[in-house]
Amino acid sequence: MINFLLLSLSFSIYHSLISSQSLLPFGSSQGEWQLLHASIGISPMHMQVLHNNKVIMFDRTDFGLSNLSLPGGRCRHDANDTALETDCTAHSVLYDIDTNSFRPLMVQTDTWCSSGSVLPDGTLVQTGGYNDGDRVVRTFNPCMNDDCDWVEFPQYLSRRRWYSSNQILPDGRVIIVGGRGQFNYEFYPRSIESSSFSLFFSFNFLRDTADEYENNLYPFLHLLPDGNLFIFANTRSLSFDYNQNRVVREFPPIIDGNPRNYPSSGSSVLLPLDEFKGIEPEILVCGGAPKGSYYQATHGVFISGSSTCGRLKVGQENPSWVMEQMPIPRVMGDMILLPNGDVIIINGAELGAAGWENGRGPITRPVLYRTYTERIDWRFSVLSASPRPRMYHSSVVLVPDGRVIVGGSNPHVYYNFTNVEYPTDLSLEAFNPPYLSAEYAPIRPRILSFDNNIGYGKTFSVRFTVQQYSTERFLLSIRIVAPSFTTHSFAMNQRMVVLKMNSNSNIAGIPSTYEVSVLGPSTAQIAPPGYYMLFVVHANIPSPGVWVKIG
Ligand SMILES: *[C@@H]1O[C@H](CO)[C@@H](O)[C@H](O)[C@H]1NC(C)=O
Ligand SMILES: *[C@@H]1O[C@H](CO)[C@@H](O)[C@H](O)[C@H]1NC(C)=O
Ligand SMILES: *[C@@H]1O[C@H](CO)[C@@H](O)[C@H](O)[C@H]1NC(C)=O
Repeated sequence: MINFLLLSLSFSIYHSLISSQSLLPFGSSQGEWQLLHASIGISPMHMQVLHNNKVIMFDRTDFGLSNLSLPGGRCRHDANDTALETDCTAHSVLYDIDTNSFRPLMVQTDTWCSSGSVLPDGTLVQTGGYNDGDRVVRTFNPCMNDDCDWVEFPQYLSRRRWYSSNQILPDGRVIIVGGRGQFNYEFYPRSIESSSFSLFFSFNFLRDTADEYENNLYPFLHLLPDGNLFIFANTRSLSFDYNQNRVVREFPPIIDGNPRNYPSSGSSVLLPLDEFKGIEPEILVCGGAPKGSYYQATHGVFISGSSTCGRLKVGQENPSWVMEQMPIPRVMGDMILLPNGDVIIINGAELGAAGWENGRGPITRPVLYRTYTERIDWRFSVLSASPRPRMYHSSVVLVPDGRVIVGGSNPHVYYNFTNVEYPTDLSLEAFNPPYLSAEYAPIRPRILSFDNNIGYGKTFSVRFTVQQYSTERFLLSIRIVAPSFTTHSFAMNQRMVVLKMNSNSNIAGIPSTYEVSVLGPSTAQIAPPGYYMLFVVHANIPSPGVWVKIG
């Protein structure tokens, strides 16, 4: 089956790069920060990348006046707004990755602490918020002519959804789980079946994990390859069959007993599902704030955040958490899957908890988590520092060129730029992870052609070019990454699938050009339908990604 052709290559540069990759705990690059805009006018606490290379960003309508006017003299008049009845400023922008420009968008109702998912057709569905926005669904359908804006559906949700989490499902629906005081879940689109059919479903696990400071808000949701939903809340987790409203199994609590969800905000990812080597679903949870931190912080005492990560192989018969030690404790960190399967842990603080004015000691250095290394002492590297603290209400997303875009930070009830310890931050930055360093240019693949519609289990081919190519099978992979809706330290819907490769060959007559035959993901449980970024990863260095539609 596997048909690797022997190629005559000069391996000298290649070898020096690869061996520095695999033998040293730290490459020479620690990544680079780049300021994209000193101000985009709002402080994005929510971000989502869309398949037309634009990023939708928003904060909340009741922060007061932002630093960006709505176009054409438009204003929002809302007698129920908690800050201003008339507001002619924007609280949402659409950022264009390719041109590094942005334009204001119009939100009518409050989007504060809400959630979202992208439907299979590429439309963002945002759910809930606060006050007059807490039962609203808003959609944003990406357009090419740049005149699209938010569309709002008031009273769509059956319950108030403030601090809930979403996950796109294999059938293209979205599940919306929990929220403040909501021990239940519902779906988008809502069921149109008979009126006796309940619109929401109770879920006692959320009641059981709500301690006096809650600590179970923004539960971590991950769709497992068996179709059940992994849900982590506070210190506990389970596998849940949302169709039958049935707990499939409960996993042991995380070992150190420290809460991981808002306001003790740690973060979590589903590690890459590898169809090539065999799927073994594994959850990673990092950081958070020890029990009592939130209470102490509201009384002016700032306790050190959690410095542990836990890994759990949820497919095993008797899984148990394997704990690891981060080099820096961190609360309100974000975890983003990078195209090579590593995880970047970024933003947040060393002390305190999430919530207004509750964090201290910004951690401006991201940490790289090497998912696959066998050597535990090589697991983490500390990367370059940004000059800007990213405290409560900051966010981050991966974009197709391999950078991560970072924005937000506003631990105040309003936009406060002076006389506060951590002023509201309106800037937008990009972090270039170490793999973008120029030293890797000879081994960086570039995609030349691909299919942009990929069927489940269907063969397709990807052509790419790379100067110094290794024919070693395990050094090449084709991966798809679902773009996340990131807010409050959790990147919803984020997932990575490593696709199965049939064969890989060089293209006769074209130097440094190769073709690989790949299989689309096996099932919609492994990769729900929709838009993904596809990357060719060679010797741990990703190509720039391209958008593909699965299903
Ligand atoms: C607000 O925007 C103006 C330009 O429109 C800029 O000069 C100013 O620095 C911005 N304020 C903040 C706090 O970013
Ligand atoms: C304000 O809230 C009330 C009660 O929820 C509602 O009836 C009214 O329509 C709202 N007003 C506006 C301007 O949204
Ligand atoms: C933030 O600004 C608002 C309105 O300008 C002010 O009332 C409030 O006290 C400020 N908050 C802090 C923490 O200084």
